[in-house]
Amino acid sequence: MTTLPPPHTEKQNEVVNATPDTSQEDNVDVSSVLEESQVLDVLQKLDEELVGLTAVKTRIREIASLLVVDRLRRSLALTTRPPSLHMSFTGPPGTGKTTVAMRMATILHRLGYVRRGHLVAVTRDDLVGQYIGHTAPKTKEILKRAMGGVLFIDEAYYLYRQENERDYGQEVIEVLLQVMENQREDIVVILAGYKDRMNTFFQSNPGVSSRIAHHLDFPDYTIDELLAIAQIMLAEQMYQFSPEAWEAFEAYLNRRMQMPRFSNGRSVRNAIDRARLRQANRLIAKGGKLSKADLMTIEAEDILASRVFTEGVPENEEKPPGPEETS
Ligand SMILES: Nc1ncnc2c1ncn2[C@@H]1O[C@H](COP(=O)(O)OP(=O)(O)OP(=O)(O)O)[C@@H](O)[C@H]1O
Ligand SMILES: [Mg+2]
Repeated sequence: MTTLPPPHTEKQNEVVNATPDTSQEDNVDVSSVLEESQVLDVLQKLDEELVGLTAVKTRIREIASLLVVDRLRRSLALTTRPPSLHMSFTGPPGTGKTTVAMRMATILHRLGYVRRGHLVAVTRDDLVGQYIGHTAPKTKEILKRAMGGVLFIDEAYYLYRQENERDYGQEVIEVLLQVMENQREDIVVILAGYKDRMNTFFQSNPGVSSRIAHHLDFPDYTIDELLAIAQIMLAEQMYQFSPEAWEAFEAYLNRRMQMPRFSNGRSVRNAIDRARLRQANRLIAKGGKLSKADLMTIEAEDILASRVFTEGVPENEEKPPGPEETS
């Protein structure tokens, strides 16, 4: 460990004076890069629109800073290979991994790290072929689509089957490794999934693990965070809960969280979608004149009619199928 001299000492002044003279032309302007790339807008939106995730947000700011500095350095011909930015996003379902990956793609694009800034989200089935010789071309095709952006592999551990050496997933991993190493200027690979399974996957695939520069962990949300997420979703859709509906919704979440296949933000979104259906039914049944407030407000009864209360079982919550492409 090195000890830094205390600030404002003679010694430190000596050190400062000893640094090479930097002429005016050698100066770069941080604010110009920030303005031109509008990256601060994206970071601010990330802060405002995403509840919680403090550690994830901090890491994203650090990565953004690194890329800004990298750009400034390059503008002064301090060229190095761009930093490796492959990542792993670990956490339970619905904790914002895909959402953050999309924001990340935008940030990488604005800071000139990737050309297009789109996100291609896939799972094992999109990469693995059914017959010998089909896997590599299939994987390469997906990689081609993802070039210039982010390739997001959900439940990445399914690519590796310990019990089957000849599993085609192995071929996917080999192709991926090459691209992660050789084409990292033009593609960022994000591997996502449950934390414990990803850890096992990384242990069995040290080659992959060593190419991952950033591990971001997405924890389960607290009930307060889930309520805050509901508030954001309602506002986005121009709906509101009545005070009684908020109470009902909190009770709903407390029950739903204990049931199988609870998936954080996605469960909140699905619950709101269903409440909207019931509200619409209620309004039509009521008939007559409806006010703007009627059209906006979800009442407690729209929530309490859920199967979570009536039958004690969750409604079906399927994840949308992949591959998805978003820009
Ligand atoms: N922190 C958050 N703030 C606001 N909304 C959020 C937050 N986290 C998740 N959501 C919302 O919850 C839903 C699910 O999020 P997302 O699809 O990003 O989760 P995920 O971690 O990718 O889930 P899975 O592992 O099941 O794919 C989305 O509608 C997203 O907008
Ligand atoms: Mg996802």
